[in-house]
Amino acid sequence: MSQRILVWDIPTRVFHWALVLSFVGAFLTSETERTRDLHLMLGYLMLGLIAFRLVWGLVGSRYARFASFLFSPTETLAYVKSLYQRTPRHYLGHNPAGAWSIFLLLSLGLLACGSGVGLVLESGGELFEEPHETLAYAMLAVVFVHVAGVVVSSLLHHENLVGAMVSGHKSGEADQGIARHFGWLGVIMAIIIASFLMLYQPSGTSTAGIGTSSTHHEED
Ligand code: HEM
Ligand code: HEM
Repeated sequence: MSQRILVWDIPTRVFHWALVLSFVGAFLTSETERTRDLHLMLGYLMLGLIAFRLVWGLVGSRYARFASFLFSPTETLAYVKSLYQRTPRHYLGHNPAGAWSIFLLLSLGLLACGSGVGLVLESGGELFEEPHETLAYAMLAVVFVHVAGVVVSSLLHHENLVGAMVSGHKSGEADQGIARHFGWLGVIMAIIIASFLMLYQPSGTSTAGIGTSSTHHEED
């Protein structure tokens, strides 16, 4: 019998919404020199979050583990076909299409942050400027697809996926749920994130170097 079961542990949910915050924030602060320090802070936050998620994907709870959402191209195609036929196959964790977009988002996030760190390190050079911007916009495109996918599958499955990413719960068989919330880890994450945001000290040398190469953005 179907009942309310726990699917997303707390660290996965804290990760997701903090990632959304860091992504939106990094974008909003990317264009002007005035907000560059905030941009770097949010970028490093994203890097830390993704690093955490890579570890949690190996040792986390059932549906957070990468092994639970590694789908073959054949299975993904079968899923997409089932969408077209209006008989969507149901997955309690990530569905195959969602899973691919998640791996893509994590990879693009890592590459965007990596090229951002490259920009800071080259301090004034232009080698990483184009790749950084391209990767950031590629990630934005995938985010649009991701959010559209969430809305479409919520409608097709008559399931509130956004609500599930907030509460952690979905409807399913009792033995399919996960047993633990890992709330203690969520609290540790929230403390680390809050402390990082409050204590972050911009490094004078890197921003000075970058300023010389990016003043043109003020004039755009
Ligand atoms: C560790 C992470 C990051 C670091 C260190 C970083 C660093 C930088 C720096 C130094 C610039 C100034 C480039 C210049 O104009 O010379 C920049 C620009 C920019 N960043 Fe980041 N960034 C990071 C993460 C991100 C992320 C996650 C996104 C988006 C999701 C992003 C999007 C952008 C965009 C759109 C620009 C403007 C590019 C342009 O107009 O030339 N960055 N970033
Ligand atoms: C803004 C940038 C966003 C990024 C980078 C992003 C990234 C991700 C990632 C990496 C996951 C996998 C979660 C995990 O297993 O750790 C995920 C799942 C999810 N995201 Fe986002 N997300 C974004 C925005 C949003 C927004 C705005 C919404 C709500 C409208 C949303 C709703 C969801 C939902 C419902 C899931 C679970 C999907 C499922 O049930 O398979 N995301 N997202």
